[in-house]
Amino acid sequence: MTGQSSILVTGGAGFVGSHFVHHAHETGSKVVVLDDLSGGPLPPLPRDVVFVRGDFADSALVRSILRTHEITAITHFAGKIQVGESVADPAPYFHTNLVKTLTLLDVVVDEGPIFVFSSTAAVYGAPVSIPIHESAALAPVSPYGMSKLGVEHALASYGQAHGLRWAALRYFNAAGAHPNGRLRESHEPETHLIPLALDAGTGRRPGLTVFGTDYSTPDGTCVRDYVHVCDLAAAHLAAIDVLAAGRPVGAVNLGSGTGASVREVLESCARVVGRPVPHQAGPRRDGDPPVLLAGIARAAELLGWTPKSSLLTIIEDAFRSRA
Ligand code: UFG
Repeated sequence: MTGQSSILVTGGAGFVGSHFVHHAHETGSKVVVLDDLSGGPLPPLPRDVVFVRGDFADSALVRSILRTHEITAITHFAGKIQVGESVADPAPYFHTNLVKTLTLLDVVVDEGPIFVFSSTAAVYGAPVSIPIHESAALAPVSPYGMSKLGVEHALASYGQAHGLRWAALRYFNAAGAHPNGRLRESHEPETHLIPLALDAGTGRRPGLTVFGTDYSTPDGTCVRDYVHVCDLAAAHLAAIDVLAAGRPVGAVNLGSGTGASVREVLESCARVVGRPVPHQAGPRRDGDPPVLLAGIARAAELLGWTPKSSLLTIIEDAFRSRA
């Protein structure tokens, strides 16, 4: 099915979006990327992928792309992603992630393509029980999570009212890189643990601070669920296939289903780099829950998707991409 599909990828220049572009292209889909490059330069794209520089809330532009390229599905990766920044300066988060996405959805409802939305584990807030299933309470604690949840509510409502075919894929900790080493995780500023740890291990950074060592976890540091960005890409294609076959998807967690503590990640990074990762213990970071771990049964059941890569593969691929 995806072999024949034409997919519009918003945010195709970003970390998860660019990996999806390569994956979709490698598996035979036609791909058009729409990105305003506000998050950074365009990474290398396969030669026959069409790139349009523009705003996903430019309705005339999106409508024209949908018609010209006979788009059957949109994967909407574009958005702002820094949890901490969203607390300090919430307006751009509500504006870009929520208001502008509602504008995009008006066109989607009119034109009828499948819509796959990049959501986040941040919609759950501080989890009450672990692992987190999709039925858990939705109580985001950051404007980032709230903005993503707002879109999920719109998707569910538009699905009911207008028959919109949608999926909201709730990523846990997206990490790793394409094994070809040509795409990398690169945020400005970088705040994510694995790239920071690899850069500290190779001496590109002086070191890093472990945010909290007194959590109620086995080694006192936070446990997270790291999922390979190529596994995430595969899940998006699976969601498109399921929706195209006329079956509903809705909200689905995407994680590995296994947890790793900050210390375990640092140890694995040191093993891959071949040198210790310089670090120091510091205070807790505001808003960090002790454990985030995805229940991934729904993804297996609805999408036929299970993650393929281990934490070690994630770190090896990330390391290769930063060499
Ligand atoms: N950490 C450190 N030191 C650092 C950076 C991170 O100890 O310098 C710790 C964090 O405290 C956390 C873990 O490493 O315990 C992972 O932190 P990341 O910043 O890499 O990722 P988060 O878990 O904070 O965030 C991820 C996604 C968000 C998503 C969130 C869900 O990046 O988009 O999970 O809550 F919203």
